[in-house]
Amino acid sequence: MKVLIIGGTGLISRGIVKALHGRGADITVFNRGKTEDRLGAVRRLRGDRDDTAAFEKLVADHGPWDVVIDMICFNVQQAESDVRALDGRCGHFLFCSTVCTYGNTQTILPTTELTPQRPHSSYGRDKLAGEQIFLRAHEAGKFPVTIIRPSHTYGPGGPVINNLGWEHSFVDRLRQGLPVIVSGDGHGLWQSCYHEDVGRGFAHAAGNRHCFGEAYNATADEVATWDEYTRRTAAALGAPAPRIVHIPTDLLVALQHERLQPLEEIFRYHGVYSSEKLKRDVPEFRQKTPYEEGVKRTVEWLDARHKIVPAKEDDFVDRIIAEWEKLSGGFTPAVVK
Ligand SMILES: NC(=O)c1ccc[n+]([C@@H]2O[C@H](COP(=O)([O-])OP(=O)(O)OC[C@H]3O[C@@H](n4cnc5c(N)ncnc54)[C@H](OP(=O)(O)O)[C@@H]3O)[C@@H](O)[C@H]2O)c1
Repeated sequence: MKVLIIGGTGLISRGIVKALHGRGADITVFNRGKTEDRLGAVRRLRGDRDDTAAFEKLVADHGPWDVVIDMICFNVQQAESDVRALDGRCGHFLFCSTVCTYGNTQTILPTTELTPQRPHSSYGRDKLAGEQIFLRAHEAGKFPVTIIRPSHTYGPGGPVINNLGWEHSFVDRLRQGLPVIVSGDGHGLWQSCYHEDVGRGFAHAAGNRHCFGEAYNATADEVATWDEYTRRTAAALGAPAPRIVHIPTDLLVALQHERLQPLEEIFRYHGVYSSEKLKRDVPEFRQKTPYEEGVKRTVEWLDARHKIVPAKEDDFVDRIIAEWEKLSGGFTPAVVK
């Protein structure tokens, strides 16, 4: 199976490459050569996909491909460029989309592939526009298409997120037993899937005829509240039980609109998705990596590259907590007997 991955060295991509190696695939990656590359035996094509003429020529010249997986298509121009480059030269095309295409107005959880897509972020809207372009290419017989929608995916090469976003000082705060913020009452629901588990889903969907013309969520099975997520992350780090400060979400967003955009757009909403459809059609797709194990590996990677931001270099959380204590008059809930 001759496979092209557009991207290839990123977080999910590396999980795909590992699983494709396991399938004995002949792997080519296309990227700019800027990101750390420990992929081993793969062919490398270099270029910037936004130099569309050169990208399309290179991809067409090295084809035809049994499978092409586009990991870094974020807008209509890039999707249309893929269709031009691959028309008649691709046995199966997989598009890495996102659960953000559903938006956050679901009234029934978990969100399935039948849930209407009503994205409210520009990221989700642009990914949905890409999905529609690829599904039209599928219907027009240009190449068979599969859409895969990961939710939060983590692993070595990326951060350990928290309920406010992707601040790296979160890890150091937990290690030092400093207070951390969780928005609302901490009961928001969340799923995080390890990159190799998501990658296995892509790699085994590749070339699978059951997947032609279909869209799939690719998420973890486990669902945790943000409080549980925070406690489990601390436990994985060998840190003390976290000191969680709950602050109303609207207040947080009003206090720091710019830096808390991820909270406003994503993390304030329940993120619970079903991947039963992908498990049905691609039985190799399973959440195999326990969250604590995935966090340990991720933090080892961050530590080795000195990427953990020391809490003393970022007083953002302390300033917000101080502001909240002023506003709430040092409010701590009394135990009602
Ligand atoms: N992680 C999550 O939680 C999550 C959730 C939902 C969906 N997703 C989706 O997952 C995808 C990201 O996949 P990933 O994790 O494998 O990738 P990634 O970590 O974002 O890595 C980006 C890859 O693309 C290459 N690249 C970036 N810009 C390029 C350009 N202009 N031209 C050519 N190559 C370029 C990079 O290498 P160079 O820097 O060397 O070029 C690298 O190989 C996105 O589509 C995202 O929407 C992620």
